[in-house]
Amino acid sequence: MAPMQSLPALLDARLREVTGVDPEMRPATKPQFGHFQSNVALRLAKEQGRPPREVAADVVAKLDVDDLCEPLEIAGPGFINFRMRSDVLAGAVSALLEDPHGGINPANHPQRVVIDYSAPNVAKTMHVGHLRTTIIGDCFNRVLSALGHTVIPQNHIGDWGTQFGMLIEEVLDEGLDVSTLSLDEADALYKRAAARFKEDTEFATRARARVARFQGGDEQSLGIWQQLVDISKPAFNEAYRRLNVKLTDDDLAGESTYNADLPVLVKELEDSGVAVVDDGALCVFVEGFEAPLIVRKSDGGYGYATTDLAAIRRRVRELHADRIIYVTDLRQAGHFAQVFAAARKAGFLPGDVTAQHVGYGMVLGTDGRPFKTRDGSAATLGSLLDAAEEVAAPNIALAAIKYADLSNGLQKDYTFDAERMVQTTGDTGPYLQYAHARVNQILRKAEAEGIHWGSVTVLEEPAEQQLALLLSGFGEVVDDVAHHLQPHKLCGYLYDLAGALASFYEACPVLKSEGDVRASRLALCAATKQVLAKGLDLLGIDAPERM
Ligand code: ARG
Repeated sequence: MAPMQSLPALLDARLREVTGVDPEMRPATKPQFGHFQSNVALRLAKEQGRPPREVAADVVAKLDVDDLCEPLEIAGPGFINFRMRSDVLAGAVSALLEDPHGGINPANHPQRVVIDYSAPNVAKTMHVGHLRTTIIGDCFNRVLSALGHTVIPQNHIGDWGTQFGMLIEEVLDEGLDVSTLSLDEADALYKRAAARFKEDTEFATRARARVARFQGGDEQSLGIWQQLVDISKPAFNEAYRRLNVKLTDDDLAGESTYNADLPVLVKELEDSGVAVVDDGALCVFVEGFEAPLIVRKSDGGYGYATTDLAAIRRRVRELHADRIIYVTDLRQAGHFAQVFAAARKAGFLPGDVTAQHVGYGMVLGTDGRPFKTRDGSAATLGSLLDAAEEVAAPNIALAAIKYADLSNGLQKDYTFDAERMVQTTGDTGPYLQYAHARVNQILRKAEAEGIHWGSVTVLEEPAEQQLALLLSGFGEVVDDVAHHLQPHKLCGYLYDLAGALASFYEACPVLKSEGDVRASRLALCAATKQVLAKGLDLLGIDAPERM
């Protein structure tokens, strides 16, 4: 089957061919203007110095869309109005019902896509930022997988680095048995260690010396480190289970897994001359950045950026990535821009491999400041879920959180307002869940009454036509999200769809109608349910059968 193109896209293409410019098709502002309008004739008329209605008449004469539209109309100063033929709309929805991919267009060129997301830090509780990257990354994973790409999630957990120097010293000083700690207790340990590191110079010196010993392979240090890792992973997994995201232990590729690569990669950089010694440190200078990227500090240590270079190198050479997507806090945008540039310069990231950083904004409280728990401490991922579950059942609370996270532009901060987010009215996750449950209820009732439906055959009412039009555009919206990585487009689409469904119920009785009309309306309901369920699934939101 040819990939499903939305009806507006088909029209757009034909009008573009005739006029040679972007026709700027817009949904009609009133039902009497049909379904779409284009002002292309007005723009061309200005250029050509001719009366717009005359230009419109020319365009209409040249344009062959009889197979899609009712006879075209020229309105007002020279707008062209398009009304889709109802059999075309019906055919589009029926095709959607039969499509094994549920309206999603399989990618023409499936890619290997590495998605770097979640990445919490060992011995630290996951905070609200990790909530965002986990939800957003999971959505990208679902969307790209649905299109037939091979998604390789990489959970780049912070399981290495200088913080382990102070952690290990603190454990030894306190005589702690790390294996018995919960992640929250480890987090408290982290805070104690960090506070001492700041205040106590003797401790700080020991912690620094410990970094070198630990990274040099000291067994006692590595033993404590391993225990910290071992108590952290189950807590991360528990969060993933609670969030209902796809990450598993198979996706773990923490900072420590790149250790052996670091000296090798650094030597490659030195040999090729891409890295040069500056002030004792080995640096890569990249155009457009004031400070160089330090790949080996003057004390011989490697940092966050070197590990990220190693990760890119492995993702390209061993995972054979065609595209690499990173989901982190917006504040790391500069870091990734520089790492990508350095990786290109070093040849680790060839021109045909795309690397994209998707930055997200902060989670704010209703007071407009970074979200805090009631006792005033920075919010953890768990506390946020708890807050939402105080006002709704877990699957609704989760839908509320995920939708609130994804439905704004990712870069924007969003306000965590549990009471508002769990409402079943307005632009919320539970509203979409409710729309799904309600349409399901109609279908269930019909089934119980032994009413059968097949395809969509009759589509005369404007509300039915609007619904059908929207349904025909699902595949394109999903393509768009895969390309531009903006899940709010899918959220907006589903919100519009739920709205069109509500208007349809209002204007068109379903179970109370009869014969072909009833069967056709039920089929329209079934297609809407299918798209709502699939769309919610791509957002990682559960679509309940009842609510
Ligand atoms: N662990 C880091 C953090 O919590 C995020 C790591 C992101 N991924 C990466 N490849 N640097 O901020």
